[in-house]
Amino acid sequence: MKPRKTANSTGSAADFIPPRPTLPKLRAAAAGCRGCHLYKFGTQTVFGEGPRDAKVIVVGEQPGDAEDKAGRPFVGPSGKLLDRAFDAAGIAREDVYVTNAVKHFKWAKDARSKRRIHQTPNAAEIRACLPWLQAEIELLQPRVIVCLGAIASKALLGRTFSVLKRRGLANESPLAEAIFTTVHPSAVLRAPSDQRALAERMFIADLRKVGRYLQKPARTGKRTSASTGKFSPWPTTELPSATSSASTRSSRK
Ligand code: URA
Ligand code: SF4
Repeated sequence: MKPRKTANSTGSAADFIPPRPTLPKLRAAAAGCRGCHLYKFGTQTVFGEGPRDAKVIVVGEQPGDAEDKAGRPFVGPSGKLLDRAFDAAGIAREDVYVTNAVKHFKWAKDARSKRRIHQTPNAAEIRACLPWLQAEIELLQPRVIVCLGAIASKALLGRTFSVLKRRGLANESPLAEAIFTTVHPSAVLRAPSDQRALAERMFIADLRKVGRYLQKPARTGKRTSASTGKFSPWPTTELPSATSSASTRSSRK
């Protein structure tokens, strides 16, 4: 698909966002995205998935090998763990829309095996892809966003944001009532075997805080949200409001 406006090309996914987007329109447009060079890597664009009225948007890093082949987010090992953790945390799947900061699988061929090895997307790739995530957030207006791992957290909360310092905590943001940040499920899967069970328990404990938050009544009143145009993709500094909100009183395990 050709970019919408070649004259004012941004060299990012923004060139491909359709006017008056709906989820199906966004998904169809994203399938032809060439907002960065990663479209050459993957089998297909892996767009977000979930109900239009989801209360929670969960943001991962990028599709993995299984997701690239299936064309759906979080269907591989990380997704299986995520499903178990949602269940254990009391978060209903019908409340959740899952997506990624970057919509194409970035990989390199392993020299010895034929496996495709995951490569972390760089700042330019994340910046180029962010308009899709921004559009998903604007459209769904979720109560809560959950960032899994450093890439998603930094994409929405700033490059200096440290997920290790703020795991399981709610951060203030104009994008939603709260942005919760935790580790990526692949980090749990990679934990040394003697720490694996603890890592999974801590991950579930982080998500349980999200589950508890959702039990509270929704905040009313119009958000000055992404739709006001204040959202600045991939902010270069940490948002001043990236501090613990009242919902994080019981912040330890
Ligand atoms: N890891 C991610 O970050 N996203 C996926 O969709 C799958 C694995
Ligand atoms: Fe477009 Fe994102 Fe894929 Fe780059 S990674 S081509 S910006 S969908």
